[in-house]
Amino acid sequence: MFPLSVLEHVSSSVLSYANIVALIVFLLVYYLVHFYQRQRELANIPPGPKPWPIVGNFGGFLIPSFIQRRFGQSSNSTDTVRSAIVVLTEQANVYGNVFSLFVGSQLIVVLNGYEVVKDALSNHPEVFSDRPEIPTVTIMTKRKGIVFAPYGPVWKKQRRFCLGILRNFGLGKVSFEPCILQGLATVKTELLRLNEESGGAGVDLSPLISNAVSNVICSMVLGQRFHHEDSEFRTLLSLMDRGLEICVNSPAVLINVFPLLYYLPFGVFKELRQVEGDITEFLKRIIAHHRETLDPENPRDLVDMYLKEMLVQQAAGEEDSSFTEDYLFYIVGDLFIAGTDTTTNSVLWILLYMVLYPNIQGKSNRPFSPFFVQAEIDNVVGRHRVPSMTDKGSLPFTEATIMEVQRLTAVVPLAIPHMSSEVTLFPKEQLFYPIYRFNPERFLDDDGKLLKKECFIPFGIGRRVCMGEQLAKMELFLMVISLLQAFKFRLPEGTPPPPLHGRFGLTLAPYPYTVCVTTRS
Ligand code: HEM
Repeated sequence: MFPLSVLEHVSSSVLSYANIVALIVFLLVYYLVHFYQRQRELANIPPGPKPWPIVGNFGGFLIPSFIQRRFGQSSNSTDTVRSAIVVLTEQANVYGNVFSLFVGSQLIVVLNGYEVVKDALSNHPEVFSDRPEIPTVTIMTKRKGIVFAPYGPVWKKQRRFCLGILRNFGLGKVSFEPCILQGLATVKTELLRLNEESGGAGVDLSPLISNAVSNVICSMVLGQRFHHEDSEFRTLLSLMDRGLEICVNSPAVLINVFPLLYYLPFGVFKELRQVEGDITEFLKRIIAHHRETLDPENPRDLVDMYLKEMLVQQAAGEEDSSFTEDYLFYIVGDLFIAGTDTTTNSVLWILLYMVLYPNIQGKSNRPFSPFFVQAEIDNVVGRHRVPSMTDKGSLPFTEATIMEVQRLTAVVPLAIPHMSSEVTLFPKEQLFYPIYRFNPERFLDDDGKLLKKECFIPFGIGRRVCMGEQLAKMELFLMVISLLQAFKFRLPEGTPPPPLHGRFGLTLAPYPYTVCVTTRS
């Protein structure tokens, strides 16, 4: 032990006036050097709005809601983030199709419009296929799995392996249809029951559709389906919804500027950790059960095939293999999150547009008109045959309608951020103006045949293109056709239509709406 007098002597000499001045001068010089270095680095970045110090361009989130209300700004978090999409479009009008923003001190370059996106993601995939470190995501995924994994050999191996398994299940092939159609039978029965019970108030389609969609992922990945009233499964789905909502639509976005906020013991920060813990527990329990009951000769699903691959790699002595149970956990989470919300919201948007455009949903008085979805379905599939992917080529107007709703509603409007792995120059771009009018015919040629438009990229392009594109296309097609074949959808009497700009979570969802259904005899 030092005598107290020695400590006093040391601390008084360390905290002497001269030392404090020297420290301040040192910090000032350090800050100025850092500031000027950063200015030099950022000299050639694309134009953009001026960032706030420290928080960058997202400082608005720091303003407490009562002050926002006082100055007439919305305190509704959904509106605040929804306006992020509007704000980005407005910024493009001011700064052009390539512009800069800052989250904290992190530079983000926004690419707006097909040509510039294609130039980056398709023409320079080696440079633009990485993912940035987003603190919220990094804390929760440890950058494992597929969606947010860094571009490199591990991501490549994992993605190739999972894609191979999905293809093994028969994605894009007729043999996979029953897996999707099975859930639809329940949706139809329940829809009729709930419609009857609602006494004209209409049915919220969202839980039914989300259940049918996530059951497709569940049966491929976990080898089991859940009843839509299964309370544990319902809880899992609502936890996922809530988790995404908090990450994107609440003050928790500030974790991306100050990562330590994640550990705050109150409010949405605490709730986020709780949600994450509950989802982890649910998935880890299922994976553990698979491990205990694994028969490598008879793999039941993706989890079994992955566990089997782990055994193969262990037997081959691959010591640094990335195939681990931990990695599997993040992959399962990714497939759920990437595969449920996106497809569910797309189906909900399509049915909402059908309700709002009964002239496009409906049937003409003429025996067959090519510009009515149900007329086309009646003509090609009829009222009683189960629809199949083989009908796709014969339903151009229906297909064009699905594509047009996808174009207008863009359920992944900001895609998933990419990171460039080199300093890059962007070309000057012509401004891109979105067209907001709903018109499926824009996807048809003069003979009524489907037009493939290169710039229609709801699933992204390049090396990071959506891994579930084939699956999602099958689900959208079969679900929409089956439901429109069976029912006429309309809004309940006297109910105003929901706003069409949607609610932004990780994906763009329609505002909640209810529909009345009538069986098509
Ligand atoms: C209508 C439904 C869907 C839409 C609109 C959609 C759209 C997208 C988009 C825009 C991306 C980002 C591409 C990029 O980074 O440039 C993406 C990535 C991804 N999607 Fe989908 N998706 C849908 C359904 C699905 C389904 C059903 C699955 C499940 C198998 C899935 C799995 C993934 C995965 C794993 C990625 C990450 C790929 C990677 O980083 O390598 N998606 N999706």
